[in-house]
Amino acid sequence: MALLTGFKKKKTAVFISGRGSNLKSLLKFSKINKSPISINLIISDNNYAKGLNIAKIFRIKKKVFNFKKPKLAENKLIIELKKNDIELICLAGFMRILSKNFIQKFNGKILNIHPSLLPKYKGINTHERVLKNKEKFSGCTVHYVSHKLDSGKIILQKKVKINQKETPKTLSVKVLKEEHKLYPEAISKIFNL
Ligand code: GRF
Repeated sequence: MALLTGFKKKKTAVFISGRGSNLKSLLKFSKINKSPISINLIISDNNYAKGLNIAKIFRIKKKVFNFKKPKLAENKLIIELKKNDIELICLAGFMRILSKNFIQKFNGKILNIHPSLLPKYKGINTHERVLKNKEKFSGCTVHYVSHKLDSGKIILQKKVKINQKETPKTLSVKVLKEEHKLYPEAISKIFNL
């Protein structure tokens, strides 16, 4: 028991824009005893994000910010994150590009998950592009967020094989299944667990 004293979970905020399946996997992970994180805040730019229902079920504080005026939204967001003593930010299907200023404020503390084997296929519609290029493999990547889109230091990747009959839909299901394992693994890795 003595080993557990002094172990404090990192207060984490998860940013979402839509479905929130990665949020769900992170929430489950955070509930494990030896998980290095607790999820204290869920942020969205979209009032209608399905993932916000997950926040409700798990009774986690959630806040929605209107990004029509991005600078204003980010300033309010920074205040909220500081108020909640957030130490780690996990982007999980968050469809906004954060400013250089925001990223600097949380330097080295923002992670993202992307459904491709970065540095290949940055940006959106990854599965369509991967299949169009007749790739044999795809996968997912967890990386630190830098000011360049999908370009920060890679933490972990997982490769999946592409079948001959693969469609963007089947590939997205296959990759997503791996994403749900990879994000927790990457977080454990950065905290040396
Ligand atoms: C995932 O494929 C993630 O890699 C990408 O956006 C998608 C979000 O899915 N950044 P969900 O909202 O976590 O289900």
